[in-house]
Amino acid sequence: MHILITGGTGLIGRRLCAALTARGDQVTVVSRRPHMVASLCGADVRVLTSLDDWQPDQHVDAIINLAGEPIIDKAWSARRKQVLLDSRVGLTHKLIEKIRQAQIKPRVLLSGSAIGYYGIHPEEINYEDAAAGDDFSAMLCKQWEEAAAPAKELGVRLGYLRTGLVLDEAGGVLKKMLLPFQWGLGSRLGNGKQWMSWIHRQDYQRAVLRLLDDEQAHGAFNLTAPMVVTNAEFTQILAHTLHRPALFTTPAFVLNLVLGERADLLLTGQKVLPKALLARGFQFEFPDLSAALANLLKR
Ligand SMILES: NC(=O)c1ccc[n+]([C@@H]2O[C@H](COP(=O)([O-])OP(=O)(O)OC[C@H]3O[C@@H](n4cnc5c(N)ncnc54)[C@H](OP(=O)(O)O)[C@@H]3O)[C@@H](O)[C@H]2O)c1
Repeated sequence: MHILITGGTGLIGRRLCAALTARGDQVTVVSRRPHMVASLCGADVRVLTSLDDWQPDQHVDAIINLAGEPIIDKAWSARRKQVLLDSRVGLTHKLIEKIRQAQIKPRVLLSGSAIGYYGIHPEEINYEDAAAGDDFSAMLCKQWEEAAAPAKELGVRLGYLRTGLVLDEAGGVLKKMLLPFQWGLGSRLGNGKQWMSWIHRQDYQRAVLRLLDDEQAHGAFNLTAPMVVTNAEFTQILAHTLHRPALFTTPAFVLNLVLGERADLLLTGQKVLPKALLARGFQFEFPDLSAALANLLKR
């Protein structure tokens, strides 16, 4: 298969490039940093510097659409929110236009989304048929999905990757947590009752490859492990895995002060279960957080 990936140089995308090339697929990555693609994604990966360079006669079998500015890095000013939206929704609109122009349409589009789609409902279990929330993260995910929706009318099988916290020792949330925990300064966040719906990087990759290949898979898929934990449980399991104490609490007001609206990403969470993936027969290698962390951190 020839697969086009937007956001292929990112934490998730790089791993996917490696997994796809390892099984013999041809990968093309769209990147604003073409000089980085060989080192981040692999020497065999082709590169387009912009979607504008994708010509109608260049056939690809599948597209994985992950590009987007990092969510938590910068304060959510009105301008930053627009950048977050444009880098996902705007780019996806453009992608749909390019698919429309393609002489031969790709068979499948797996388009990015996140569990933030469900908004803030602390006690509810969110399966794929739950309604979207109304906070900024939820609106961002909803618009991102809506931008990809016309793919269906173009005869392209469409799957939404409603991704949870991808645990990867090389980056993302886990890497950010490691240093304070290693120093014995690990802490639960706020009251620690918020849900953390996570997935081991290897299960994420396996799930995406499965959704690429499974001709019957379409619609929304929660990419989260079946064992959801609270932040307090996550904190204890991570501390135990590292053989370090986690005696502290970072109060909610401190996070609110430092992060503003973005503190919601840490202080609220969604209890999300992967009903659609399990229904398609997907089996998790790491359904359990202790085993996942022990594997990632080689303990
Ligand atoms: N990691 C997680 O736990 C997680 C959870 C839920 C959802 N997601 C979503 O999944 C996607 C991939 O996640 P990730 O962790 O791999 O993200 P990442 O490491 O931040 O990578 C994002 C990628 O998007 C591209 N990008 C960034 N800003 C762009 C812009 N303005 N225009 C075009 N491309 C842009 C970058 O490519 P170039 O710099 O090469 O152009 C980069 O490779 C993101 O959209 C993220 O929101 C991630």
